[in-house]
Amino acid sequence: MYICLCNAITDRDFRAHAECEGCTVSAVYRSLGKKPQCGKCAPFVRQLLRQIVELPQQQPGPAAG
Ligand code: FES
Repeated sequence: MYICLCNAITDRDFRAHAECEGCTVSAVYRSLGKKPQCGKCAPFVRQLLRQIVELPQQQPGPAAG
């Protein structure tokens, strides 16, 4: 899903560049090689970063077999 329409950045793009603890919105944009333009996406990006930091890392389940 597109989060930033100005830069055509999806939630997947943000997740791929936002997996460091303490990442800021600005740092993620820099990592993507983009700059925020209208800024309307910033609250969503901030929320996404918070979710990534707060959610425990998912462990792979036991192998079926
Ligand atoms: Fe992201 Fe405009 S929607 S800068």
